[in-house]
Amino acid sequence: MFRTNTCGELRLADEGKKVTLAGWVQRVRKMGGMTFVDLRDRYGITQIVFDNERNSSLTDSANHLGREYVVQIKGTVSERTSKNPNMPTGDIEIIADEVNVLNPSEVPPFTIEDESDGGDDIRMRYRYLDLRRSCVRKNLELRHRMTMEVRRYLDGKGFLEIETPMLVGSTPEGARDFVVPSRMNPGQFYALPQSPQTLKQLLMVSGMDRYFQIVKCFRDEDLRADRQPEFTQIDCEMSYVEQNDIIELFEGMAKHLFKEIRGIELTEPFQRMPWADAMKYYGSDKPDLRFGMRFVELMDVLKGHGFSVFDNASYIGGICAKGAAAYTRKQLDALTEFVKKPQIGAKGLVYARVEADGNVKSSVDKFYSQEILQELKKAMDAEPGDLILILSGDDAMRTRKQLCELRLEMGRQLGLRDKDKFACLWVVDFPMFEWSDEEQRLMAMHHPFTHPKDEDIPMLDTDPAAVRADAYDMVINGVEVGGGSIRIHDSELQAKMFEILGFTPEKAQEQFGFLMNAFKYGAPPHGGLAYGLDRWVSLFAGLDSIRDCIAFPKNNSGRDVMLDAPAALDQKQLDELDLAIIEPDKK
Ligand code: AMO
Repeated sequence: MFRTNTCGELRLADEGKKVTLAGWVQRVRKMGGMTFVDLRDRYGITQIVFDNERNSSLTDSANHLGREYVVQIKGTVSERTSKNPNMPTGDIEIIADEVNVLNPSEVPPFTIEDESDGGDDIRMRYRYLDLRRSCVRKNLELRHRMTMEVRRYLDGKGFLEIETPMLVGSTPEGARDFVVPSRMNPGQFYALPQSPQTLKQLLMVSGMDRYFQIVKCFRDEDLRADRQPEFTQIDCEMSYVEQNDIIELFEGMAKHLFKEIRGIELTEPFQRMPWADAMKYYGSDKPDLRFGMRFVELMDVLKGHGFSVFDNASYIGGICAKGAAAYTRKQLDALTEFVKKPQIGAKGLVYARVEADGNVKSSVDKFYSQEILQELKKAMDAEPGDLILILSGDDAMRTRKQLCELRLEMGRQLGLRDKDKFACLWVVDFPMFEWSDEEQRLMAMHHPFTHPKDEDIPMLDTDPAAVRADAYDMVINGVEVGGGSIRIHDSELQAKMFEILGFTPEKAQEQFGFLMNAFKYGAPPHGGLAYGLDRWVSLFAGLDSIRDCIAFPKNNSGRDVMLDAPAALDQKQLDELDLAIIEPDKK
């Protein structure tokens, strides 16, 4: 037998057993006449002891083991004299009788321990070594457990797991596509799917009724901590449902995951917040509700008192940071610098402290009487010890977004964004369209297949920008973990939607004819949702970036530094594909 046990399972109850282990040498320590080897595999670390007095040549071999050598060790389980309570195997050690080097290793470029000495870049270049570290591996184990639970839940609800193709046609809406040239069809390209959206709708036309797929999606967009160019969706679609059916079923799945994976029982229904309220009170379509600090609009209270910044503003809003009145001048200056950063773009920050006696002292005292400041206190529902922070601007939406950043920063500074606390909500009633300055036209906010709210359909002709959609996002701790909608299943309404989005009938037919034609053959009412698996895993693992729960992620420039991809193609491949590269200076 290659090994009788793993490196993570032997305990005091196994004392006296003859065992064979195999794994990687994490460390070799010499102490007097003894040599200790930490042997690691996926399951844990076990200490192996070599005693010079018992067997000097064996101990000598152990002394020559290098980091990351792959070895097989035979020996006897023994109780440790100095136990290590921090290790599951810390009560025992193996007294070695034999050591076989199965494969030596070069000195690894960084230490393969939880606290590694390797920087981000080098660890990504040697990701296969990074994955040997238990803190990284644990995230993949969590990911596996979550996908197993997802399958169990959806199978229990009658969903069929169906694969859809990876080589599909390019769709112009949404993010940019990654494209793949076709050798057999010179000059033509496939696109990798941004999501299986249209295909899952066709599966509903086929009568599959309940579909799911844990599926890779590809989007050529700018990367952030919660975005990768290829990521995984738990993609679902259902027939004969209304919005509420979908929300309930997938809220059930969220609760199932919380219970099975995190041991958290969520009994209450998740809050549902209209998109308009999320924007008004939190300046974001994905508010972090682990803490309050709801925005209060202060136009009535603060406008018209001679302070020109506020007098000229079309929005003035404040947040109340409970118990933060003791913020020093330095801290307040730092907050002002924070909101003035170019990425946030506020012009300045006004603050007001509520003192112990109830008086309010503000940074703009000379414009406001104590009487007005008391009105401010009342409007903000502030108490002694609280700090009121106020932003204003000439564009309400932009100012709210700035206030959103300030709120999140204050939440962070006051320790209110605890990673072990979860605030789940549905944001509902999204607008159907949003204006794109770049394209100078209305764009679908979710996607062009989203059903408008029935009561808003007449406005498609008169005021399309005001039309709301049967669309919903699930948001946890300020992260959009999923989103979906009821779909249009009527080819005429779908054609109208394309018209509003600026497609000529020919263009709509060329790009989405397959879907509109399918809808002519009895498409059932349907809708669905996709969860972002990477975001769910990183939320449950408490990670700052989804990269850490992906085995082989891309860096911020979209590169795989381990595979050194993307890379140039050689001329033969280019010729086969009928492709020519234009040198940058010849463009
Ligand atoms: P949407 O575009 O909202 O919807 O995507 C669904 C969920 O996928 C996750 N997600 C991402 N995760 C990591 N990196 C990315 N680049 C990335 N982009 C999106 C998010 C998001 O909520 N077809 C629709 C779903 C539907 O309507 O059924 C869709 O793709 O968690």
